[in-house]
Amino acid sequence: MNGFEKTRELVEAIARTGRAERGVSRLALTESDREARAIAVSEMESLGMTVRTDACCNIWAEYPGTSDQPGVVIGSHLDSVPEGGDYDGVLGVCAGLGVVRDILAENPHPARSLSVVVFTSEESSRFSLATIGSKAATGNLTTMDTLRFKDKNGTTLLKALRDFGGQPEYLCRDALAPASYHSYFELHIEQGPVLDWNSEDVGIVEAIAAPTRFMLDIQGEQAHSGACPMNLRHDALTAAAEIILAVERAGRAESDFGTVATVGVCECRPGAMNVVPGRVTLKVDIRGIVEKSIARAYNDVMEKVKKVCAERGVTCNFTLYSADKPVAMDGLLARRVEKSCRELGVKYRRMPSGAGHDAMYMATLIPSALIFVPCKDGVSHSPAETIDWERVRPGYDVLLNTVRGIVM
Ligand code: GLV
Ligand code: MN
Ligand code: MN
Repeated sequence: MNGFEKTRELVEAIARTGRAERGVSRLALTESDREARAIAVSEMESLGMTVRTDACCNIWAEYPGTSDQPGVVIGSHLDSVPEGGDYDGVLGVCAGLGVVRDILAENPHPARSLSVVVFTSEESSRFSLATIGSKAATGNLTTMDTLRFKDKNGTTLLKALRDFGGQPEYLCRDALAPASYHSYFELHIEQGPVLDWNSEDVGIVEAIAAPTRFMLDIQGEQAHSGACPMNLRHDALTAAAEIILAVERAGRAESDFGTVATVGVCECRPGAMNVVPGRVTLKVDIRGIVEKSIARAYNDVMEKVKKVCAERGVTCNFTLYSADKPVAMDGLLARRVEKSCRELGVKYRRMPSGAGHDAMYMATLIPSALIFVPCKDGVSHSPAETIDWERVRPGYDVLLNTVRGIVM
């Protein structure tokens, strides 16, 4: 079986872990995450790679090179959002394993080492924090942070890591040294429609949009929905409704700059038909490539929050989860990828990434390349996420050709 066929087989096997009524729900550091990791590790071992799990539960598999020059690492993540698709992240890990298989079949003694990494919890779905594993690997996550972030059952990231076999107290000790690898590659579905609709097969990412994420905890006054007159209410949900619309308006006003703004979580308490809501929690995600535009959208939302509080007699507590900066990918590596596209006659475009990726953090230490392949109509973070394998093949070949050119 060649590397591309193996990639497909692995993706399909991993898709069976965490299968939910709708799509895949493989939240980070859960049993289904463990099952998916076991499939990847079994392939790593059968390729003769040495497998190590670091303090943040990232899995690093390495096949040694014959020289002591720094090697190449390929990777992504296996966790999913709730009711997500089969390919987000999973494709990048499995394609890395496919590429190692193809290169070793050609030459079992590459000059540089070849590694595959599975990053822990790229998705923010469980702990309200994204790219946890790559943040830790690059020295951007402390033990204190793991105490601050909790899942919806109150389990801290620290406890979840420990229960999964990690050592959250040693995150800093386990971070990578700069230049420990020659380069990092991540193959990922685009999660937007540009490649699919333009019949192009590869996107070479130049910059990754950065999310600013926060929680708004709106406190109104819980009351009887029948007995409390309209003019005496301090309804937390109607206040939240105004804020939600303001988030959408702020994103629309900045859309020329590629900024987007979303409220993805709205929890209303106590959540009964005959009770005026007393408390609402919103989780907001604003992203873009242009920092000033992200800041304008953020400021617009905050102005509206103040106004709504004053007008409606509610209060609002604010918790900032993260404020990442947009990240540029390595220009020289992008040119190597472009050269592979030309050599293989693949239709490509250079483009930004709206979604976040582990490459954002790897790029802070190691030259990094993010290669997009099309997914149907750009649908992702949805059970409807689909790919056409024949349209993934050119991106796989470009990854293989580029990595082969570096390690051989
Ligand atoms: C990761 O999928 C993200 O939220 O961008
Ligand atoms: Mn995702
Ligand atoms: Mn992803």
